[in-house]
Amino acid sequence: MNVLVTGGAGFIGANFVRRTLATRADARVTVLDALTYAGNAASLPEDERLTLVKGDIADMDTVSDLVGAADVVVHFAAESHNDNSLHDPWPFVHTNVIGTYTILEACRRHGTRLHHISTDEVYGDLELDDPAKFTPDTPYNPSSPYSSTKASSDLLVRAWARSFGLEATISNCSNNYGPYQHVEKFIPRQITNIIDGVRPKLYGAGLNVRDWIHVDDHNDAVWAIIDGGRIGATYLIGADGEVDNKTVVETILTEMGLDANAYDHVADRPGHDMRYAIDASLTHDELGWQPAYTDFASGLRATIAWYRDNEAWWRPQKQETELKYEQLGR
Ligand code: NAD
Ligand code: DAU
Repeated sequence: MNVLVTGGAGFIGANFVRRTLATRADARVTVLDALTYAGNAASLPEDERLTLVKGDIADMDTVSDLVGAADVVVHFAAESHNDNSLHDPWPFVHTNVIGTYTILEACRRHGTRLHHISTDEVYGDLELDDPAKFTPDTPYNPSSPYSSTKASSDLLVRAWARSFGLEATISNCSNNYGPYQHVEKFIPRQITNIIDGVRPKLYGAGLNVRDWIHVDDHNDAVWAIIDGGRIGATYLIGADGEVDNKTVVETILTEMGLDANAYDHVADRPGHDMRYAIDASLTHDELGWQPAYTDFASGLRATIAWYRDNEAWWRPQKQETELKYEQLGR
């Protein structure tokens, strides 16, 4: 099976590539990645079944032949960080909207199966005391330039499936954690700050809730959808991992042997979504997928150990990332 993975040098994509090569002997993987600030060839394993192509998913000349040679395209490539989208939205429109449009047109041209990776943020946010969770029927209501461009990309995929009969599926997943995540993101930022002797930074009061899932659980669900998902369907992926940000920071500090209160509150993110929560029952019932990491604290412990053991991987990104945050006052 020839698998084309867009964005395979990013956090979730690289974990997907590693897991695919380790668990599927029949798979050959081609990664198409622009190697932006978020992409890192060092996240990928050395393997004769893996080819890395550096290129932009919005460039049809690059995309078309690669899509034509694939049995399935797993489309992870995106600009993925909300804070960056508030500062400069254009790369989000370019990659998430025009890039996805280009992938869709190439899949249509070659009749290639597509799985599109998306986010729970397309549904907007929930109140803290709302008993509801997101389901595949929740109306789209994105808040940020990031989530609105991801919502746009989902709508394009749905239209191509319905209007052109494209063989596509979509998944919307909650917040991932695990190895190889860029240090701009919440959990790796705090772990690497602590390693550097800097106090963690909590936006606002820290009451916002995210629904954490280990990246391997996300990627196993993606394979379950590719293997057995209904063409045209949307699947929600989550592991019932709702935790507020304050608790996450306190847990990291405790796990790293420090006082749980040794963090600072900083300016809040404008338009900050309050709570995300996924109802993944359709994915469980239809595909039989279940998360393996059900204890967030132990998944977090393993992630902390990974960042301690792999400083050479994250160190080159750290200073530039913190400079960006300093300019944003966060
Ligand atoms: P990431 O930022 O770590 O990686 C994105 C990758 O895409 C990078 O390797 C980057 O170089 C590449 N890329 C960016 N623009 C490109 C372009 N124009 N052409 C080719 N490659 C390009 O992101 P991530 O956290 O791994 O997220 C991957 C996907 O999963 C995204 O679509 C994101 O919306 C979705 N998602 C992420 C999460 C999460 O918690 N991180 C949760 C749900 C869904
Ligand atoms: O829900 C899925 C989404 O999760 C994905 O679609 C996005 O690609 C991914 O980046 C993530 O978005 P968030 O905005 O939720 O993730 P982030 O890691 O940026 O922040 C998580 C929470 O932590 C959020 O409420 C903001 C807060 N935060 C973040 C940083 C970087 C802090 O309190 N301090 C920080 O330093």
